[in-house]
Amino acid sequence: MSQAHNEMLQTVVSESNLGDYTEARSRFDWETVERHFTWHASGKVNMAHEAIDRHVLEGRGGKTALLYSDASREEAYTFADLSEQSSRFGNVLHKYGVAKGERVFIFMPRSPELYFSLLGILKVGAVAGPLFEAFMETAVKDRLEDSGAVALVTTPELLGRIKRSELPELKHIFVVGGGPQSEDGLIDFDAEMSAASDDMEVEWLTREDGLLIHYTSGSTGKPKGVYHVQNAMIQHYYTGKVVLDLREDDIYWCTADPGWVTGTSYGIFAPWLNGVTNVIRGGRFSPQDWYSTIEKNKVSVWYSAPTAFRMLMGAGDETIAQHDLSSLRHVMSVGEPLNPEVVRWGWKAYGQRIHDTWWMTETGAQLICNYPGMPIKPGSMGRPLPGVEAAIIDDRGQELPPYSMGNLAIRTPWPSMMAKIWNNPAKYEEYFRLTGWYVSGDSAYMDEDGYFWFQGRIDDVINSSGERIGPFEVESKLVEHPAVAEAGVIGKPDVTRGEIIKAFVALREGYEATPELKEEIYRFVKEGLSAHAAPREIEFKERLPKTRSGKIMRRVLKAWELDLPTGDLSTIED
Ligand code: PRX
Repeated sequence: MSQAHNEMLQTVVSESNLGDYTEARSRFDWETVERHFTWHASGKVNMAHEAIDRHVLEGRGGKTALLYSDASREEAYTFADLSEQSSRFGNVLHKYGVAKGERVFIFMPRSPELYFSLLGILKVGAVAGPLFEAFMETAVKDRLEDSGAVALVTTPELLGRIKRSELPELKHIFVVGGGPQSEDGLIDFDAEMSAASDDMEVEWLTREDGLLIHYTSGSTGKPKGVYHVQNAMIQHYYTGKVVLDLREDDIYWCTADPGWVTGTSYGIFAPWLNGVTNVIRGGRFSPQDWYSTIEKNKVSVWYSAPTAFRMLMGAGDETIAQHDLSSLRHVMSVGEPLNPEVVRWGWKAYGQRIHDTWWMTETGAQLICNYPGMPIKPGSMGRPLPGVEAAIIDDRGQELPPYSMGNLAIRTPWPSMMAKIWNNPAKYEEYFRLTGWYVSGDSAYMDEDGYFWFQGRIDDVINSSGERIGPFEVESKLVEHPAVAEAGVIGKPDVTRGEIIKAFVALREGYEATPELKEEIYRFVKEGLSAHAAPREIEFKERLPKTRSGKIMRRVLKAWELDLPTGDLSTIED
């Protein structure tokens, strides 16, 4: 273990009370972490090299990197295997002329090929864009179009959702498990992989060069392409050490899909930068299946989300009794508020304290956390990591005292901070409108010990099962339905999912408000956009509350729903 590495660990892990925490913070600096990487001196940067090839060069090629399983496959790959497979795909991309900086997207269910592809994309210095498999035609098109993707990796089942005629920049589509392809632009992934060499020199980059784009939702406009760069690896590595607490012999499982940021930062980068065995389970959630995954693989470190924990809690303790979960050493959660009740249940059910962590697609990595050695206050997201300064500020950027509710903000910069919003500099600037701060869009307060407590979103963004949904995207789809004149979408509190999506809809003349029509509208969004963005509840209204400039007032819809006062209505139509 390097000297730098040791210093870093000492500065953080050894603290277990507020005094040490303060000291750890004052001694910490990002440069110490950065010295762990040789690119600090050589200037040659590539995430795939650091996460995979480096382990092979340093004699750890035979170690298991990936334990993959789903209903029909069970496969193990070493770091050497991943290095070879990703080099093959890198060579395939080169053959088709894909160059540094170009965007290559992946749209497929979890499988080993997804991981080979993603690493191969990084090896040629292209920017990876992983898309969640549940996205339907419109969602896929919006993202490929905005990013100007030149190539895509997908499966035969999903091909039908790609509107090729409307995507002139998309030149190559690699089809995994689809046999020979005759149609123009469709390429047989498997045949190309077997024909390609497994030897390649990665594209050497700088720390400011692109890594990946994740599309995420705000309260207005189409989804935004959050663009991350190579420099983020400093924080992926560091949080892997101090928050995930990864050690040499750990078997680590992050349940998130790489279509979401948790599934890349913590499903790929943090574990592999730390040289740890990574479990990937394909298929859908089920308590039996998940507990078997822990038992069979002897998972020691587990990162999941509140909705999943709530569903596991609902499945009852008998389900737990049927499995041996004694391998678990450390459990974490992210994505939505983690109820104190769930923390207490986790302690009883697994003998584990579930450690909450807070961060966002835009932040690229964890910022406020509960980590090993730190006293947990159930219901709090934890404290800012050493190296991170968080505060509650008012709308002018003034820091507020403990227990005041306000904007949760982070002092800029930190290594994994997004580098831009693709095609949208104005949107990017909005996050940094208060000098020196990144404004998260969450409201929270801080207590006298410096713990942060989540209160809600400031904007209209919906968080359903930990997935972030922009009401605008759903409303735009709704009004494409011939019966819908106007639509307003809000998050409605739900015990299991945190929030569900509820739509208020005004119908066009001549349409009748029937249960069948509700069902039809629901299916229309589900099949056009995605299942997780479809409104589980639809309520028909004669008309919707709008401002004089015609904007639907979601705040009033929310007040109707929750039976709250509607507040200031001075801008309403009439
Ligand atoms: O509102 C916060 C909520 O999820 C948002 C970020 O969503 P996304 O970009 O999809 O990233 C999710 C995983 C990194 C935040 O603005 N959120 C995230 N973590 C927590 C949370 N809310 C409460 N507690 C958390 N621990």
